[in-house]
Amino acid sequence: MRTPNFHSILFVCLGNICRSPLAEGIAREINNKYNLGLKIDSAGTSRWHIDEPPCEGSCSVAKKHGFSIDDLRGRQISVYGDVEFDMIVALDSQNHRDILRLGFDSAKVHKLGEFGLDNKDVPDPYGFKDEEGFEMVYTMIKAGVENLLGKSL
Ligand code: 4NP
Repeated sequence: MRTPNFHSILFVCLGNICRSPLAEGIAREINNKYNLGLKIDSAGTSRWHIDEPPCEGSCSVAKKHGFSIDDLRGRQISVYGDVEFDMIVALDSQNHRDILRLGFDSAKVHKLGEFGLDNKDVPDPYGFKDEEGFEMVYTMIKAGVENLLGKSL
C-alpha cells in the first residue's frame, strides 16, 4: 500500500465531539501502529463544544474497538491557527463548504467520502440514541481513514 504524501491531517466536523474525534482517534492508532510520523488533529466548524470531551457514543464505540479517545477535547477550526495542516478532511459536505468559506487553500480541503466511500457524507450522529448509529458511523470513518492513510487499523 502507498505511503501518504502528506505530513499533517486535520479532521473537521460540526461539533468536534462525535465524528472528527473518532477520525482523529482511528488515524492516531494507525499512525502509532505503523510509525507514520504524521501530525493528526481534529476541530469543529462551530464553537459549541470547546474544551468538551467527545460524546459518549463516540467514546464507547472507540473503547469497544480497543482504543480510547477520552483525552480529546473540542476546539474550533481557525484559518490562522490551522494554516500549517497540509490535509484538511471534512466529514460531510456542509463542513467542506464551511471550511472553504473560511479561506483555506482549496487544494488542501477534502471530504472523507472521497476516500473509497462513494463521496458519501458521514451522517451526524449527535441525535442518535442507539449504539448501532455510532457503530455505522465508526465503520464508515474507519474505512475512509484506512483508505486515506493506505493502512489498516
Ligand atoms: P459532530 O456532531 O459534528 O460529529 O461533533 C455534532 C455534535 C454537536 C452538535 C451537532 C453535531 N450540536 O448541535 O451541538
